Amino acid sequence: MDKLLEKVYGMSAEEMAAAKEHLMVGGGSPFTTALQTGDGIRVTDINGKTYIDCTSQSWALYLGHANKEIREIVYEHMQNQSHIHQGFDTKIRYALAKKLTEIAPPHINRVSFTASSGLGIEAAIKLSLKNVEGSRKVIVLDDAYHGNSLTTAAASWTSTQASGKFTGVMNFRNGLNDLFIRVPNPYTYQWKKTNNPEDCVDYCLAAMENAIQREVVGQVAAILLEPIQASGGQIILPKRYLEGVRALADKYGCLLIFDEIQTYCRIGEWFAYNYFGVEPDIICTGKAIGAGFPMAAVLLRDGLKGFEMNAEELHTFANNTVSQVCALKQIEIIERDNLLENTRNVGKILGDGVKSMMNAYPEIGDVRQAGLHIGVEMVADPVTKEAHPAAAKIKSTAVENGLILGTGGFRKHILKIKPPLITTPADAAEILERWEATLKASLR
Ligand SMILES: Cc1ncc(COP(=O)(O)O)c(C=O)c1O
Repeated sequence: MDKLLEKVYGMSAEEMAAAKEHLMVGGGSPFTTALQTGDGIRVTDINGKTYIDCTSQSWALYLGHANKEIREIVYEHMQNQSHIHQGFDTKIRYALAKKLTEIAPPHINRVSFTASSGLGIEAAIKLSLKNVEGSRKVIVLDDAYHGNSLTTAAASWTSTQASGKFTGVMNFRNGLNDLFIRVPNPYTYQWKKTNNPEDCVDYCLAAMENAIQREVVGQVAAILLEPIQASGGQIILPKRYLEGVRALADKYGCLLIFDEIQTYCRIGEWFAYNYFGVEPDIICTGKAIGAGFPMAAVLLRDGLKGFEMNAEELHTFANNTVSQVCALKQIEIIERDNLLENTRNVGKILGDGVKSMMNAYPEIGDVRQAGLHIGVEMVADPVTKEAHPAAAKIKSTAVENGLILGTGGFRKHILKIKPPLITTPADAAEILERWEATLKASLR
């Protein structure tokens, strides 16, 4: 082992505590101990305890921890190339652009690469402002999360009072821009005005149309949404709603942007188009796309104006060849190992498994599952559907039981089960066993 690695891996508890003093961390849910190694869906901490990682590290590792093929291709590729600036062409960039557009919806055939998911969202917004003449506003939804940069935070629930004490981004409220106008989202499970969730869809579509017609000066550039609102609470937007939004975008001449930073592959399909049958004008994907290496891709519909070579979209690391090689290799592995099918199958096993516990545990209010994009809403009462106060305890008990569950956003009572796409049926059985033991220990 390299002497440097030996030294770092061998740091004592005292050395770690002293070094920690030099670090600033601006968010995330603090974990009980430091992680040391990972293998597939499992991670091991510095004390040797192993956990099943149902967060995939902010949902960013589809092939799990320390995947061997990714390691090997990084090593091989880096003997030839590492970082190449976007002004220089490379074969890997061509190959990835071609492959991504092959798996993308039919009318989406151009890609712009960038360095991170948040930058991808900003690139999509730029493209919509460029294409819709005179436009200055973008419609976003309640409970949306599109990132934590000043612009993407402004598009997100983090810039609203709903964020409460959770987030510090409100400390920068004066710097948050006024590009966005927010409209209600179809959170049908919590719809209380009538008994019919379809009314919720109608209400939200009407509110969006009203915003476009009456609340915006001039032309709207785009409607930006996550087909499944992840951070906001694993809210799967109904197909009819997405169809309605598509129709509104067409009627009023604005673009529809899908933030697929979490849905890409994780829903058991390449893109949300394959799941919902609705084709957007722009897709942003990021997070797991680089198999653990940072990158994002913005995909654009035919006939729209793209970026031009005049610094409309320019970032030092927008063309990192290592991330791009990993993205391409990951697609090859997903195809070769039928990982989309696996995601659908194992996701269903997990979703059905949790649903089968609803009788024994009425605290499980709703299970929202699309592939391995799974949220479990824990409620104090199945009728009032108020948040269950024990969710934090469930999460910490799960850690004791060797299971890392996710939460996110301000709805901490929605627990997330989002392991890597390589999770097997046997792994799913183990997750369910630990999940049930956790519920028993925390709720009974
Ligand atoms: C749906 C969605 N969009 C955008 C982002 C922003 O991604 P990043 O933090 O990588 O910039 C996230 C991150 O959680 C996300 O979940």
